[in-house]
Amino acid sequence: MIKTVDKERGLDVAAIRQQFPILNREVKGKALVYFDNAATAQKPQVVIDALINYYTDYNANVHRGIHTLAEEATMAFERTRDTAQQFINAESREEIIYTRGTTEGINLVAYAWGRQNIKAGDEIIVSTIEHHSNIVPWQMLCEEKGARLRVIPVDRNGELIMDEFEKLLSSKTKLVAIGHASNALGTINPVIQIIDAAHRVGAIVLVDGAQSTVHLDIDVKEMDCDFFAFSSHKLYGPTGIGILYGKRRLLEAMPPFQGGGEMIKEVTFEKTTYNDLPYKFEAGTPNIADTIAFKAALDFVNEVGKEKIRRHEEQLLGYATEHLEQISGLRIIGKAKEKVSVISFVVDGLHPQDIGILLDNRGIAVRTGHHCAEPCMRFFEIPGTVRASFAMYNTKEEIDELIIGLQKAIKMLA
Ligand code: ALA
Repeated sequence: MIKTVDKERGLDVAAIRQQFPILNREVKGKALVYFDNAATAQKPQVVIDALINYYTDYNANVHRGIHTLAEEATMAFERTRDTAQQFINAESREEIIYTRGTTEGINLVAYAWGRQNIKAGDEIIVSTIEHHSNIVPWQMLCEEKGARLRVIPVDRNGELIMDEFEKLLSSKTKLVAIGHASNALGTINPVIQIIDAAHRVGAIVLVDGAQSTVHLDIDVKEMDCDFFAFSSHKLYGPTGIGILYGKRRLLEAMPPFQGGGEMIKEVTFEKTTYNDLPYKFEAGTPNIADTIAFKAALDFVNEVGKEKIRRHEEQLLGYATEHLEQISGLRIIGKAKEKVSVISFVVDGLHPQDIGILLDNRGIAVRTGHHCAEPCMRFFEIPGTVRASFAMYNTKEEIDELIIGLQKAIKMLA
């Protein structure tokens, strides 16, 4: 049991920080301040240990051997599926498909569900503030099938204009693909409202949970989404492993994504029959080590407590917003009422990249650029932003460092 929660005061951030070895390092002679959590979160020691233990003690392929190592590896590999199922409250473990990450999950749906269900004249709806991963696969599908991509507009705060969304819906709408939270702005989209409205016209809904799953409680049954995709690495787990949740009846009706080992029941040259869920969608030797270590990350988050993490991150977001707004010439991009702990901004006359380089010289890691959300940047008529994104281990003192770093950078560049 890791003592990371102080019953009186919420999170014991000092204790949490001790679990993340990378936070002890220096960058350019300064203590690391890591504010690029929306790109990838740092990993606690339990996740690193899980990776090392697998390779040290029971490295073997899964589902393929009767020897002890293979059985141990298979059991650990499959336990992650159960933990992931509980983490998002899916009905069954068969609805939990291992992928390489959110991008692959969305592409899987575009390929397997999309090619079977989308035809000329159909419409797919996305929003202006989607990540490219939730635009391009649908665009490719629309081009192939002669379908049409429609786009939900946003207002100047970066909130979806829901009246306009309702107007886009019709019997032509077959799919709505919506980010739960925007990686570029932090906006939390009203997914339940979107799902209800889409279902009323008979469309299905894919929710891109890449940016939300680490911050919000996810309950796919309550949400009633048809697909939900997310990644381990933004959830304090390893890269290269993610989850696609899909409602069983949809997954069962879909053809496989890739052909190969594991996804088959029987192969003859005349005909191949496919495996049951979830294996139908898991061709080839999977990413065993990272999948096993992902469970350690999910357990860690559960142990710390999502509610407490959320409260801590909300405080950080509020504190950062208040102090950044006082910097003259600085403009926050994305002022939605409901946000995850992501804050994007521009400074008059300065290029985000120059600011990023000067912050890095002070050991502060932020992301700069278009954040793989070019249509969103185009809407705000900017080439990109500086983005600071906060995690459970960040502190107000680190935000103070960011503010000082920014003031110095602005003085230097002005
Ligand atoms: N999509 C990730 C980000 O927003 C990589 O930084």
